[in-house]
Amino acid sequence: MEDRKTPSVTKQDIIKGLQELGLKLGDGLLVHSSLSSFGHVVGGADAVIDALLEVVGEEGIVLVPTLTGTEHDGPAQPPVFDVRHSPCWTGRIPAVFMEHSEAKRSLHPTHSVAGIGYGVDFLLAGHADCVTPCGLHSPYYRLAEWGGHILLIGVGQGSNTTLHTCEELAEVPYHLQKQPTEAVIIDHMGNEHTKSMYLHDWGTPRQFERIDNELISRGIMKIGQVGASTLRLIRSMDMIRWLVEVLQEEPRYLCL
Ligand SMILES: CC(C)(COP(=O)(O)OP(=O)(O)OC[C@H]1O[C@@H](n2cnc3c(N)ncnc32)[C@H](O)[C@@H]1OP(=O)(O)O)[C@@H](O)C(=O)NCCC(=O)NCCS
Repeated sequence: MEDRKTPSVTKQDIIKGLQELGLKLGDGLLVHSSLSSFGHVVGGADAVIDALLEVVGEEGIVLVPTLTGTEHDGPAQPPVFDVRHSPCWTGRIPAVFMEHSEAKRSLHPTHSVAGIGYGVDFLLAGHADCVTPCGLHSPYYRLAEWGGHILLIGVGQGSNTTLHTCEELAEVPYHLQKQPTEAVIIDHMGNEHTKSMYLHDWGTPRQFERIDNELISRGIMKIGQVGASTLRLIRSMDMIRWLVEVLQEEPRYLCL
């Protein structure tokens, strides 16, 4: 028997919800997501991805985090990342998205990003040469420069990777490992590259949720609803500008 408490959501419902939030053709998005947050989605992850791509159109951009890093990564245990095969731990939607025939994936051993859309090659380029995961030349900052949004689908600020960009730009003392790691990256052709970089330091618990009300009251974030899922749409550069200033004043603002 059908569970009447569980909403059933279609691609059209998702398109409508995204448009009600103000998204339109030509927009750029970095999407962090929980598929189950909607209730039941007819067509599953593919329907969500199709809805996102349709709303921004061919001149827009959809990025998803395809993170692979773990707390064990570091100089004593360098990560080995194969862009063709390394699975991500960021959920079903990114996992399906990165297998899309049009998707590209950036070369980063812990914080790779997959993307589809106009100019996506530029946003993803050079991630392997970034000395830190989320800095000025990473897709996270480039999307913000491009004028893009962060979209949180059924997840909170704890999933907002761009907050690490803010930590990097403000040069907080806890975010990166102190010693560089010789990480191994295997590219699309199967060629192996060793890159020296400073990886994420997993040692500091954060309270990212504390920015939620601040973003709303400052007009940087809008909230929407599709089925059982709460959507948060954040103007990325506005969030970065505000938060970097806060962190420069109070470097442990995001820490527990
Ligand atoms: C961890 C996380 C992905 C879990 O969310 P989730 O909704 O439970 O899992 P997924 O998004 O992977 O979706 C798969 C689940 O959706 C559900 N599902 C399956 N088909 C579905 C459908 N048609 N409609 C709705 N839900 C469905 C199932 O429960 C499935 O879990 P299962 O594979 O164990 O059966 C999510 O909480 C999260 O943190 N997302 C953000 C990750 C991120 O970007 N992190 C960045 C960190 S800096």
